[in-house]
Amino acid sequence: WITHAPLVHAIQRLKRERRAVVLAHNYQAPEIFHGVADRVGDSLALAQQARDTDAEVIVLAGVHFMAETAKLMNPDKVVLCPEPEAGCSLAASITAADVRALRQRHPGIPVVAYVNTSVAVKAEVDICCTSGNAVEVVESLGVSRVIFLPDRYLAAHVATQTAVEIVPWTGSCEVHVRFTGEEIEEYRSNYDDLLVVAHPECPPDVLAAADIVGSTARMVELIEAKKPPRVLLITECAMGDNVAAAVPEVEIVRPCNLCPHMRRITLANILAALETLSPRVEIDPAVVAPARRSVERMLAVRP
Ligand code: 13P
Ligand code: SF4
Repeated sequence: WITHAPLVHAIQRLKRERRAVVLAHNYQAPEIFHGVADRVGDSLALAQQARDTDAEVIVLAGVHFMAETAKLMNPDKVVLCPEPEAGCSLAASITAADVRALRQRHPGIPVVAYVNTSVAVKAEVDICCTSGNAVEVVESLGVSRVIFLPDRYLAAHVATQTAVEIVPWTGSCEVHVRFTGEEIEEYRSNYDDLLVVAHPECPPDVLAAADIVGSTARMVELIEAKKPPRVLLITECAMGDNVAAAVPEVEIVRPCNLCPHMRRITLANILAALETLSPRVEIDPAVVAPARRSVERMLAVRP
């Protein structure tokens, strides 16, 4: 904190000067999450906050698809992504051409896209979802079968929660795929009173071994509300530091799998972005309207 202080103060000052807001994902490092973020949350909350903010400049402390979503909600505002190379293995797993080919293979079946996709993919689909509203979004379509992309594990989890038939894609999160059910059982045998909460991007054997499955926001809400003595947090481990600081009475046990993309966002590049008002997120005008419609349809579905 002592070494972070000058950067934190400089960012706070520039935020006021620029009338800027910093929206940070739950996986951001504590010095960003606690030090400079105005609002924090999961992907769904970030999309809602981007829609509702009256700030003139939005800095999205998260990966690139999150900044793209913020820009879709604010085509006329400056949206800064401090490190545009901060990608996502899920977003990289599918292209707009892949979606068109899927539609040809499954004519008439609506397509639901996890927000962890590029704006070009969002423009090709019927509706977006996040891990916090995936089941509600799928069921909101009132059909018996949907294509669900790109995360095969989130698709498999949604299929366990609904009667709607799910046609999956093959993507996976390079972070959550590393957890194993065996590892969870080992933690259980080493700790008493362990509540296991897992993100739905994990493989099925991990989710079967967990007590609760939910988005990052659901995990935080649950820990803050119930204050269980000890939680095994099966998700990106920087979040464990943020939760541990917010609820010190809960012991957070966490196998440490970090997202290399989230880790590319730093106080230094947030400061540089505010100083230079770049790098800005720019979206191909041809895809803005259809991609925005997919996100807005999602936001109209109440979880
Ligand atoms: P949440 O929407 O649950 O925050 O998940 C986003 C993400 O990228 C998880 O890896
Ligand atoms: Fe993408 Fe996984 Fe990183 Fe989330 S944790 S941003 S899904 S690579």
